[in-house]
Amino acid sequence: MSEIAFEPLPHLKLKRPSTETVDTWIEAALARVDRMLPQFDTHFPAPSSESNIYAPIDNVEWTNGFWTGMLWLSWEFTGAERYREIAAHNLASFANRIDKRINVDHHDLGFLYTLSSCAGHRLTGDRAARDAGVAAASQLLSRFDPVAKVIQAWGNMNVPAERGRMIIDCNLNLPLLYWATRETGDRRFAAAADQHIEQAARLLVRPDASTFHTYYVDTVSGEPLHGSTHQGFSDDSSWARGQAWGIYGFALAWRHTGNQDYLDLASRLANHFLNRLPADGICCWDLIFTSDADCERDSSAAAIAACGLLELAQALPLSDALRETYEAWAVAIVETLGEKYLAPLEGSNAVLLHAVYHMPNKAGVDEACIWGDYFYLEALMRLRRAWLPYWA
Ligand code: GLY
Repeated sequence: MSEIAFEPLPHLKLKRPSTETVDTWIEAALARVDRMLPQFDTHFPAPSSESNIYAPIDNVEWTNGFWTGMLWLSWEFTGAERYREIAAHNLASFANRIDKRINVDHHDLGFLYTLSSCAGHRLTGDRAARDAGVAAASQLLSRFDPVAKVIQAWGNMNVPAERGRMIIDCNLNLPLLYWATRETGDRRFAAAADQHIEQAARLLVRPDASTFHTYYVDTVSGEPLHGSTHQGFSDDSSWARGQAWGIYGFALAWRHTGNQDYLDLASRLANHFLNRLPADGICCWDLIFTSDADCERDSSAAAIAACGLLELAQALPLSDALRETYEAWAVAIVETLGEKYLAPLEGSNAVLLHAVYHMPNKAGVDEACIWGDYFYLEALMRLRRAWLPYWA
């Protein structure tokens, strides 16, 4: 792995919140989830809101798993049947989706199935959910190119323009492959994930620990071609959510592989991210923007980063001072999200406002994004109790 410059981190003193304080944050978040239940019992929230309202959709997007994951988290928080019932009902929909191959020609099988079927199997023992998870992992494995050694992100495998294109978001899809190896004993899943994450570390991370959103590898020669953006400001900027996927994904790669290099990489990506936050600690949509004045925020990237920082902090040894610093930043981000970015109870059906889905396409700009809601709940779970991540 190439040497990556270390950036000193802005120090933040840890203000550990009390259990009572975290409980008030959780209560406020769950009040928003409860408000969503009648509308999203058989349908799912759209990827992003319009005027802060999610429309109901069928199970056809890359994002449907986040809602089911929110329900599992809410059930774990409370033990209340109303969450488990809808989540369990969703499982049949995910099994049907992979069975019928409905919109599964992409790499986001991990986002979809880790948080729905795999979490459901872990929490309830549902065998059909486990089988759906394995089928989804097989579909993901079919997207691995053995020459480029990457999982192709988008499009049919025969579309030349998409061949050999990897994207940083895929870091969070890899846990499905590690899970499938554990479930089935078939090493091919983990072997593909190992090779992909190695390429991600080598090609998606620049020497200053900023990241490309996407990168092309030649599928004939296996040679690296070039980086480019899809949702960021420019090819050479760092899309904030991509950087957040990187922080969390490389920390998880350490969990799955035991390779210390990935933990170091997660740490360097985190430093790069934290060095570019505006005053309130919630990132702009692209890290080229760093001041309060000139940016749209991406609260969803902030929530993902908070989870990544907590995963990273937990992995570091007790003697490492950065452990407390990352925890402090995660707590500060979660607190600000809860105080300033929470959706109102009237006039919205989301949890967090002020995210950006796809700025270049002008889609979901300054709106709620369903993955932001999921990761905010996950961050709260991590603050509240010892918890085995669904990604583990
Ligand atoms: N994985 C797609 C996104 O973060 O928008």
